[in-house]
Amino acid sequence: MKILGIESSCDETAASVVEDGIHVLSNVVASQIDEHRLYGGVVPEIASRRHAENIDWVVKEALAKAGTTLDDIDAVAVTFAPGLIGALLVGISYAKGVCLSTGKPLIPVHHIAGHIAANYITHEDLKPPYLCLVISGGHSHIVEVLDYTKYRVVGRTRDDAAGECFDKVARTIGFFYPGGKYIDEAAQRGNADAFKFPHPKVTGSEYDFSFSGLKTAVINLVHNKAQKGEELSQDNISASFQKTVCEILTQKTMLAAKDLNAKTLAVAGGVSANSGVRAAFKKECEKAGIRLYLPELRYCGDNAAMIACQGYYDFKAGKVAALDLNGVATMSLDEISI
Ligand code: KG4
Ligand code: ZN
Repeated sequence: MKILGIESSCDETAASVVEDGIHVLSNVVASQIDEHRLYGGVVPEIASRRHAENIDWVVKEALAKAGTTLDDIDAVAVTFAPGLIGALLVGISYAKGVCLSTGKPLIPVHHIAGHIAANYITHEDLKPPYLCLVISGGHSHIVEVLDYTKYRVVGRTRDDAAGECFDKVARTIGFFYPGGKYIDEAAQRGNADAFKFPHPKVTGSEYDFSFSGLKTAVINLVHNKAQKGEELSQDNISASFQKTVCEILTQKTMLAAKDLNAKTLAVAGGVSANSGVRAAFKKECEKAGIRLYLPELRYCGDNAAMIACQGYYDFKAGKVAALDLNGVATMSLDEISI
């Protein structure tokens, strides 16, 4: 079964053709980052406009690269939630147009479910149930993946997402948006013990995250040193900050894995591309005897292959939308579990 996936929830216009939820025949991503970088973050109005300009050629290129046409496509999967509403609506409207004109089924896919599914593309042997840490620019969740379309969120961030924290710290120390990858590079040159940053205290749930205190600690350090006219090493701050994020992520996730008796852990989302995060989870999972799955780097960030892949499982579970499908800016994974 060939599914055309469409993703436009933030600043990437993406389309992909995936066969049987695993064989990626094409994966086209048009990034708008260079433009948003001028403003230090994603400008929703600009994002919507660029999606509208790019969506048609991105889909056509995905079909051409897959050596297929709409006639050979069995269904269209589109990200419908969560995300920037104007951005989501571009992909949804396009997908609805394709389905209306061809009579193909429309599959609404949750963006976070898509990130989780990125691991199925790379690892044929990964099957639910397992625990998944989803760390992206907008979300930080520990999720029990009960089945391909059934989830239980056991931990979430109370404030900033992990990627958001990376990006804000990066901006403070002088990197371009989105700065996660620059911190990653600088951290490899720096001394991770140069600074000691706080771990958050989160009351109520042992599995919930909080990153705003860590972000503030780094910002305060940078301002403090600047006021004294002292030089700060970007490399050392990056390494110390990244080490702290890795400790927080691994401590919470490994605790959840132990308590829930999970034998398999997957990590997903843009921040799962981070070399420190990947190394930290490899080490901890080896110690705990837990099987670890990490997505290929090209499927960590936003892409449409993950949407087509999850669309395959949603379709098999009977999740097909009518042509009045709307976008939803905020929606928890718990709400789509069936
Ligand atoms: O999943 P994603 O592409 O978009 C959302 O759904 O939010 O994640 C984007 C986030 C950004 O915050 C970006 O800085 C971060 O992923 N990111 C990284 C790395 N590559 C991307 N963070 C740390 N290290 C990286 N290597
Ligand atoms: Zn994403």
